[in-house]
Amino acid sequence: MSVSVPVELKYSAEKLIGGRHATRAFRPEAVPEDTMRAIFSLAGAAPSNSNAQPWQVEVVSGAVRERLANALQAAHAEKRISVDFPYSEDMYSEVHNARRAVFGAELYGALGIASDDSAARAAYDAESLRFYGSPHVAFLFVTGDGGPRLAADVGAYMQTLLLAMTAYGVASCPQGLLSFYADTVRGELGVTAGKLLLGISFGYADETAPVNRVTTGRAALEATTAFHA
Ligand SMILES: Cc1cc2nc3c(=O)[nH]c(=O)nc-3n(C[C@H](O)[C@H](O)[C@H](O)COP(=O)(O)O)c2cc1C
Repeated sequence: MSVSVPVELKYSAEKLIGGRHATRAFRPEAVPEDTMRAIFSLAGAAPSNSNAQPWQVEVVSGAVRERLANALQAAHAEKRISVDFPYSEDMYSEVHNARRAVFGAELYGALGIASDDSAARAAYDAESLRFYGSPHVAFLFVTGDGGPRLAADVGAYMQTLLLAMTAYGVASCPQGLLSFYADTVRGELGVTAGKLLLGISFGYADETAPVNRVTTGRAALEATTAFHA
């Protein structure tokens, strides 16, 4: 059976999905407020189980962003780590780790950091707590019991948000690292409910930064997807 595919829609989807990349150097200009409202309204169209929409989104800019960046770097220096979603290197399989190694080589290669230079890598991580220089950061909290099913819904929100940003020419970087300082984020923003899944730094990309030219491949379709019939 042949199915007719609306060519323009297919082209737009490829352009939009393929046009999103993690950006790790930003220009300082703020995203206009009406653009920001349009993006976050669109992101709210994300699907969720029974349409529960278990996300709480905290968007941070200006003086609060500056204060939060300082607080995060202080928490990092004092090793005040607090995670709502436990993290362990053991969660990754062998094949995951092989993919992570390829990515790490690409990223640190672009930054000019040698693979055995753990001090330089640590310094880069610490600096990334300033949101890679982006003027805005959005924190995604999982509300309700914050369990894995609800967290998966917030994952769907995350990708919808990233694509909405891409459509508006806004670059982004999801940063799981920011979730290691959940109590600091909560304290600075006065958030009392929800579990912190991640932060997303966003703004306009600094196209001249070599780190923004890092490319990431993907596993072959057959490696991740089976078709049963
Ligand atoms: C949940 C999640 C957490 C991430 N955490 C970080 C992070 O802490 N720091 C960072 O630089 N990139 C982070 N990334 C970005 C990934 O490294 C990136 O998405 C991946 O390498 C694929 O590259 P691409 O987004 O450019 O396609 C994260 C992405 C996701 C989805």
